[in-house]
Amino acid sequence: MSQADFVVVANRLPVDRDDDGGWRRSPGGLVTALEPVMRKTEGAWVGWPGKPGLELEPFDFEGTHLVPVVLSADEVQNYYEGFSNDTIWPLYHDVIAAPRYRRVWWDAYVDVNRRFAEASAAAAAEGATVWVQDYQLQLVPALLRKLRPDLTIGYFHHIPFPAYGLFSQLPWRRQVLEGLMGADVVGFQRVADAGNFARAVRRLFHYTTKASGISVPLEDGGNRNVLAKAFPISIDTESYIEMAQRPEIQARAKEIREGLGNPKAVLLGVDRLDYTKGIRHRLKAFGELLEDGQLTVEDATLVQVASPSRERVEAYIQLRDEIELTVGRINGDFDTMDHTAIRYLHQAFPREEMVALYLAADVMLVTALRDGMNLVAKEYVASRIDNRGVLLLSEFAGAADELGSAIRINPHDIGGMKDAIMRATEMPGSEQGRRMRALRRRVLDHDVTDWSRSFLDALAAAKR
Ligand code: G6P
Repeated sequence: MSQADFVVVANRLPVDRDDDGGWRRSPGGLVTALEPVMRKTEGAWVGWPGKPGLELEPFDFEGTHLVPVVLSADEVQNYYEGFSNDTIWPLYHDVIAAPRYRRVWWDAYVDVNRRFAEASAAAAAEGATVWVQDYQLQLVPALLRKLRPDLTIGYFHHIPFPAYGLFSQLPWRRQVLEGLMGADVVGFQRVADAGNFARAVRRLFHYTTKASGISVPLEDGGNRNVLAKAFPISIDTESYIEMAQRPEIQARAKEIREGLGNPKAVLLGVDRLDYTKGIRHRLKAFGELLEDGQLTVEDATLVQVASPSRERVEAYIQLRDEIELTVGRINGDFDTMDHTAIRYLHQAFPREEMVALYLAADVMLVTALRDGMNLVAKEYVASRIDNRGVLLLSEFAGAADELGSAIRINPHDIGGMKDAIMRATEMPGSEQGRRMRALRRRVLDHDVTDWSRSFLDALAAAKR
């Protein structure tokens, strides 16, 4: 069996099943982020094909060797929906929803992480570099190091890492930190996340930390250094610019505005339907502006794309009901025959359609209550080749550390958010241009290739 010098390990494989049984590249943020890196190396990717019980042999896809990890229906329930998305996800997003601590879920998480580690060990050549992705696989670095001490192991955490006061709720907090410390480099989105991680390590293990380094004692009395540092992720900026320049996508943007009855302002929200995104807070602010008469449906339409996500997890089922009730009420109260208050789409769209939407939107609303990065904010900025449009950005999204020229909001402050929306809809073109140019500089200078390069450089340096 062929082994690779570079292996990515992620919960999901970078492909989706077509209706006709073939495969196509999946549209997720992580996949988009790593695709340019995978294209350049002849790497392997270890991951779950996304359906319970789907048994598959390893296969090659667009130059990448794909190694499927099969999950049974029970494992999907306990490891993926349970521990990953009903324990870790809410806990790491500041308990916006209540995390559930169930021992059967933890047991499944340990088992599945072990299988990912074994599959990665088999796929990696002698001395290879392995890059583990995200919170579903926090135990893999240490498990893999045990199986294959010759490997260089990186881990990137795409979501927030919480303050110790919250992290310490986790009954398996020591095991999780031990798992992560198996990596040579542990990457985070924000400086604050790396700080929270280092503090948790100091509190629970009393290891010494210096600058970004953690000194992990070895059995033989020596030490291993683990680098824990921020590497803010980005997007494939060039491809967004290229799409935004296409005449047919620009024409589509016009058509979208016409389809909405040409309101003076189009406001846009684009999220997975997730309680971390602050969709309810956004709807509340917009609904109140209509109620107060500060806006009418001729002035503004809110387009809310809420793509389906984790649809069997209770908190997501509940959130969808609440959002759809609210949208229905607001539209019922304010729609006219020609205009709608909210155009709500519980659907996922191709990237081209998203870029047309970005071009059609005067105001982009990113109101997350907590978010590792939020790539939508960067996609909007990259797409605005006309240097127009206003980005409202929550200070609780990682992107706020970089995008200082956005209008910063606290989504918990509904009054403040209403003022910010009004300011955005009334902003003169000159100020839009000044802000958007500054935002674009940042997103053009730091794209996803820079992100992966800086992480992999740090990893290579750690090996030396
Ligand atoms: C976030 C996570 C990713 C995850 C994605 C989609 O961006 O950081 O790891 O893949 O959400 O969620 P899903 O549960 O559908 O994979």
